[in-house]
Amino acid sequence: MDPELTIGALSARSGVASSALRFYEARGLIQATRTTAGQRRYPRSTLRRVAFVRVAQQVGLSLTEIRQALASLPESRTPTAEDWRMLATSWRPRLDRRIALLQGLRDRLDTCIGCGCLSLGLCQLANPDDVAAHRGPGPQYIAGR
Ligand code: FES
Repeated sequence: MDPELTIGALSARSGVASSALRFYEARGLIQATRTTAGQRRYPRSTLRRVAFVRVAQQVGLSLTEIRQALASLPESRTPTAEDWRMLATSWRPRLDRRIALLQGLRDRLDTCIGCGCLSLGLCQLANPDDVAAHRGPGPQYIAGR
């Protein structure tokens, strides 16, 4: 296996367009070296960073949050399993909250979510006179809030 990838090979294996990879590089999410001809070369470990960025984006995390997380990984060497485990541990509470919100949405979308709309018949029972508003703004019956 080639230890270094061209942007085309990185794009093909990751499923991410070269333009997006250049954008990630410009935002400091991934790093490349240059050949004497000025062509980008990425260490193979970049595939894991790109996969992390994509999945984190798909669950709604911002590029700033993702960049802060990746900044905890060493730049001068390939991150080890221990490096990733430390990142995973620091991210677990955030991901658990995101999972709880997603589950709450999945499980309560067909019932009253305590948002104040009072538009469903069930709202009269679950949120009479919008009592949920006493808890604060937003849908108060979705887990994780
Ligand atoms: S769904 Fe909005 S208050 Fe019930």
